[in-house]
Amino acid sequence: MASSAPRPSVVPQANLESFQTHLNSSKRILALVGAGLSASSGLPTFRGAGGLWRTHDATSLATPEAFSVNPGLVWQFYSYRRHMALKAKPNPAHYALAELARKKDGFITLSQNVDGLSPRAKHPEDSLKLIHGSLFDVKCSDFFCNYHESNNYTDPIVPALAIPTDDVDPTTTSALQARELDIADESIALPEIDHAHLPQCPECRRGLLRPGVVWFGEMLPKKVMEEITQWMSATDPIDLIMVIGTSAKVYPAAGYVDLARAKGAKVAIVNMDKNDVPASGLYNGDWLFEGDAAQILPEILKSVIGEVQVGEDAAAEGS
Ligand code: APR
Repeated sequence: MASSAPRPSVVPQANLESFQTHLNSSKRILALVGAGLSASSGLPTFRGAGGLWRTHDATSLATPEAFSVNPGLVWQFYSYRRHMALKAKPNPAHYALAELARKKDGFITLSQNVDGLSPRAKHPEDSLKLIHGSLFDVKCSDFFCNYHESNNYTDPIVPALAIPTDDVDPTTTSALQARELDIADESIALPEIDHAHLPQCPECRRGLLRPGVVWFGEMLPKKVMEEITQWMSATDPIDLIMVIGTSAKVYPAAGYVDLARAKGAKVAIVNMDKNDVPASGLYNGDWLFEGDAAQILPEILKSVIGEVQVGEDAAAEGS
């Protein structure tokens, strides 16, 4: 494991000191994280530039309706996201939160991210709540079938979903030299994939498999939500909520800020855009750290976690 070199400070000193004093004495801490946490790993956010996939608003493909009308297109979108997420690496912010979870017992992270980067940074499983599921879970789309599989990292999940490559002359160019096409670019034609070549449920043999993510209009995972409710409703106060790299526009995730405040929490925002604060705004004594989470988190959490260790990620070790 190589430790990263000390970074120059990216946050104002007075802010840093008051935050760290509070962090050090905090017993119950919540982090609500979103796509901005993984932005510096090279994965696009939803509502900023990059929120479009081809001509589609990324959020319009994330619905059960889109899947039932055009499962081939929705699978191509998710297969592409699985592929890009597997190519990306966890950044220092993922490692910093994972280390905080090891150092502070009363710390949980509610992640809206499905990219698998926090698990790959070895964030302790019991304190990481994946409220929107994972790109690497798959389940049967048939209403009557309960098939569910976790940690499926096969890429592509079926051969028909392989990212197309440049046409190459097999007599002169090896498959390894073929260049992947950027299928997010709408000028590149997508192949039509018929139903029979999409991922099929191995259990009921009737339904198509679908990504194990929570789509718009769907319930959040019951067990995870119960665990969060139990944590939130404990009688002890909540000392701190960190809102990291999320526009905090989607409920119920966004509502956790108000719930935590009602239990006494101070709020610390870490965001590239200083206007992306939760609807209830900032109160006296809250903190706004403006900039890249990958730079800011290791610095503001340093008083508890020390220097961030950026190591091999879990997926790389497993391969
Ligand atoms: N560091 C910190 N914040 C960043 C960075 C960065 N490097 N880059 C972008 N951000 C911030 C943006 O300013 C924005 O506030 O991250 C936020 C990303 O917001 P969204 O794109 O709305 O993503 P998110 O909040 O995760 O969306 C929530 O909505 O579309 C659904 O299910 C999807 O989980 C997603 C949910």
